[in-house]
Amino acid sequence: MPRKLLVTSALPYANGDIHLGHLVEYIQTDIWVRFQKMQGHEAHYVCADDTHGTAIMLRADKEGITPEALIDRVWHAHKRDFDGFHIGFDNYYSTHSEENRALASGIYKKLREAGLIEVRAIEQYFDPVKEMFLPDRFIKGSCPKCGAQDQYGDNCEVCGTTYSPTDLKDPYSVVSGAKPVRKRSDHYFFKLGSKAEFLRQWTQSGTLQPEAANKMAEWFAAGLSDWDISRDAPYFGFEIPDAPGKYFYVWLDAPVGYMASFRKYCADHDIDFDAWWQAGSNTELYHFIGKDILYFHALFWPAMLHAAGYRTPTRIFAHGFLTVNGQKMSKSRGTFITAQSYLDTGLNPEWLRYYFAAKLSDDMSDIDLNLEDFAARVNSDLVGKFVNIASRSAGFVSKRFSGKLAACPANPAIQALQDKAAEIAGYFDGREYSKAVREIMALADLANQYVNDEKPWEIAKQAGQEARLHEACTVALNLFRLLALYLKPVLPRLAQSVEGFLGIAPLAWSDSQRLLPAGHAIQPYSHLMTRVDMKQIEALVEANRQSLETPPAPARHAEAQVHQENKAVTEKTAPPPSPAATEGVISIDDFGKIDLRIARIANAEHVEGADKLLRLTLDLGALGTRQVFAGIKSAYAPEALVGRLTVMVANLAPRKMKFGMSEGMVLAASDPEGQTAGLFILSPDTGATPGMRVK
Ligand code: MSP
Ligand code: ZN
Repeated sequence: MPRKLLVTSALPYANGDIHLGHLVEYIQTDIWVRFQKMQGHEAHYVCADDTHGTAIMLRADKEGITPEALIDRVWHAHKRDFDGFHIGFDNYYSTHSEENRALASGIYKKLREAGLIEVRAIEQYFDPVKEMFLPDRFIKGSCPKCGAQDQYGDNCEVCGTTYSPTDLKDPYSVVSGAKPVRKRSDHYFFKLGSKAEFLRQWTQSGTLQPEAANKMAEWFAAGLSDWDISRDAPYFGFEIPDAPGKYFYVWLDAPVGYMASFRKYCADHDIDFDAWWQAGSNTELYHFIGKDILYFHALFWPAMLHAAGYRTPTRIFAHGFLTVNGQKMSKSRGTFITAQSYLDTGLNPEWLRYYFAAKLSDDMSDIDLNLEDFAARVNSDLVGKFVNIASRSAGFVSKRFSGKLAACPANPAIQALQDKAAEIAGYFDGREYSKAVREIMALADLANQYVNDEKPWEIAKQAGQEARLHEACTVALNLFRLLALYLKPVLPRLAQSVEGFLGIAPLAWSDSQRLLPAGHAIQPYSHLMTRVDMKQIEALVEANRQSLETPPAPARHAEAQVHQENKAVTEKTAPPPSPAATEGVISIDDFGKIDLRIARIANAEHVEGADKLLRLTLDLGALGTRQVFAGIKSAYAPEALVGRLTVMVANLAPRKMKFGMSEGMVLAASDPEGQTAGLFILSPDTGATPGMRVK
């Protein structure tokens, strides 16, 4: 029975470039949708730009254009990037659309009728020059704890203290520089607490991954607070019905953008929108998102839908974050890589699709793009194992058999490939892409084994072996076709080229149980994929490198801000810290923020001009290497350290020191009283290996 599936990816903000982190999500979703379509299901994939909010308004202001002009420009840039990576949206829309305004207003009115909206005045910082209320990230001042200047309204980047903007000393508006004043104004709240029972049940009913469901349970335990859904003018967004000067907060209309994009698609394709969205619909609805926006998708969104009488999502699939070479993407290291720069440097988008697929699983763990591993893996798997099969057998078919295949004999390798169709399908359906890829590559090994055993290039030299040569090439090309079929959700363009070369109709999953018939004609083989050259990767990193000294460009800055602005809101709507979190005591979650790792001291050396420091090169296994300056010169000779294992803090923000960047910290014991002289670094027990987590 064909299923009816509506699938979405999160809507990217309309004021920043698409980067490789974003692409984890769009590629993950696209693979899933392509797979479902190959299964013969009716699947629709919609998305849109997320266009509203303060940051977008201010950025347009700075550029001297209207927000509408800004979001239009960004829409085209995003669309071009997504097309470049073969993200096959059925509709890519905008939250600034009439469909979205109508749907968001309609939902709001239903909430109001149900008594779920409450108006109350709150006091906030207001910029008297710009005449606007200031989100936390648009207020700076001196840290109330350590006095550091120019700190944001919610936390100090120097000492790490978190606080509210009203605690800042000498606050100023980032927008105008003026001293903000406190001002009261009415805000509209969605009474989320009234939906607690529904949400508790919904979040624990298999709609979420286990880790996500646990996170929700924690949030419930702390109680749900009301959600502030309004912002005062000036704001770029939709005005709230019957509330002049009040606008929907961007996160209210953003997820409604999923519906709006689909509504537009339905209108263009004569599909019954209501049948998909009414409560009790027999269609399925899936949202792919990053783990950072779970709160919005697993609480606010289903609560809104349920309260307004719509269907709720079937499942929410959250993924982790992308790191590059084991670290957070970084502009100074050149690893904050934009989609556009990747395409402009001439890298093949399917390389990245393949690499992400090889790394992705169904859980929320982060995935790492190791650039050397990327090149090695693509070269060995796609070029060395896959493409190679065709390139070694197709030529003979063209030259010796006028492009026609023989009858394919029964063959154990072919049988093995066909037998795996259901298992591989299960991995794709379950978003276990890394398992699918591993299985497909094991089958590619089998196929290569066949070709290596038969050695068509040698049979070709022997007289009277025409039939054997013809048969071997026919088997090889049938094996190749099956591998292309299994890889098609990941490599749609390559699969298309293969379909052209083999002269076959677009491959569907059920075609795995068929073979090419005797006499089938193929086209002459032309090269299907080139190897990754490390030089291209170096050029890519260079193209993205921004020196630490240059201040961020305004565009970048605004992007960072909108992200932060919205992230800050996530934190604010999250429950207060548990009662155990009193002074001097931290919660397990606080502890969990510290990423402790086993490191091998690969090198240690004196630093010229530093009398306390040693420069350590730490090997973190799969996480790469780090340079750390450690104040342990008084206690250790460098040569005594090389080769030792120790423990380091791996997620400390890199610090620029006089002698270079320090990218972490090693731990050492010492006596604060100085009774026992010396410093003592830590060693793990035998068996620990570099990169292991300490927790
Ligand atoms: N506009 C909101 C989503 C609204 S959905 C109704 C938003 N936009 S975003 O541009 O910041 O992110 C879009 C998606 O990309 C999110 O799901 C986010 O988690 C994901 N990613 C952004 N950076 C990422 C990485 N570095 N790694 C993996 N995914 C990341 O949030
Ligand atoms: Zn501070």
